[in-house]
Amino acid sequence: MSKKYNLDKESAVTDEKIFINRRKIMASVFSFPFIFNTNMLSASTKRLTFRKDLEYSTNEQTNTLKQISSYNNFYELGTGKRDPMLNADKLKSDNWKLTIDGLVENPFVLDSDNLINKFPLEERIYRLRCVEAWSMVVPWIGFELKNIVNMAKPLHNAKYVAFESILDRENLPGQKRNILNWPYKEGLRIDEAVNPLSLIAVGLYGKVLPNQNGSPVRLIVPWKYGFKSIKSIVRISFVDKEPICTWNEQTPNEYGFYSNVNPYVDHPRWSQKRERRIGEFRKRDTLLFNGYGEFVSNLYSGMDLEKNF
Ligand code: MTE
Repeated sequence: MSKKYNLDKESAVTDEKIFINRRKIMASVFSFPFIFNTNMLSASTKRLTFRKDLEYSTNEQTNTLKQISSYNNFYELGTGKRDPMLNADKLKSDNWKLTIDGLVENPFVLDSDNLINKFPLEERIYRLRCVEAWSMVVPWIGFELKNIVNMAKPLHNAKYVAFESILDRENLPGQKRNILNWPYKEGLRIDEAVNPLSLIAVGLYGKVLPNQNGSPVRLIVPWKYGFKSIKSIVRISFVDKEPICTWNEQTPNEYGFYSNVNPYVDHPRWSQKRERRIGEFRKRDTLLFNGYGEFVSNLYSGMDLEKNF
């Protein structure tokens, strides 16, 4: 993994300013609801203090803030790619509580303030490969999930970590329908959770997360398909059995528990060999483990990844 990348902070800031200014101009010219969504203008104003990670960050060109925050999967806010941006203000993320419990010596709760101040924040530039065969490069801000595992002190019979997203049927438009078995759930083995790549993200492009990207706290597991990277987490529980994961529960023949990016295992309805980077025309070859094999392939030695997909 190259250590050369150095995000040009100015260009990131400029990119965001241009994005917001364009929005403002468009909103004043065409004042209809599709454009005139105040959350798009005011989202993510709080700056974070962080150090830049050089060890695990990719040196590839990052996608723009506009691309990252306007083409999303977040079914709680709708199933269309633009729905999460358009409905972003429906996610109520004030006074957030993240509960850590289950088979641990030390259960605890993190509030919004703890989430950005308790653990040292790093910028990690990761590739995100979606199972729908598109990808992005995102400058996440967060801390290693390992910090939470260490603080919780799992008991010897804890083998997995289960994650649960917000349940708010009153406000979240997607949860008014039973499109998924709400709340959204995900899981990792503990050895996957303590891998240094597993990141708890609280921001991107230097500021707190836009709602549509999973404010105020989400998981990023860059060697797995994007759906493992659960958004707006309210509970992290240590358990002894493989936890339910939403997409595996929904369509077990299409989405397995592991869901490692694997160009050699086709999705039943399409190939996973190639991918389109958002903003590019030509497709790229998809890399095994999304290119993170040197850090994670040992986690799966001896496993048949065609069966454990
Ligand atoms: N988390 C929740 N709670 N709900 C979701 O619908 N979608 C997943 C994942 N996390 C999802 C979620 C999918 S399919 C993807 S590809 C990523 O979020 C997308 O993250 P992004 O919108 O920040 O790019």
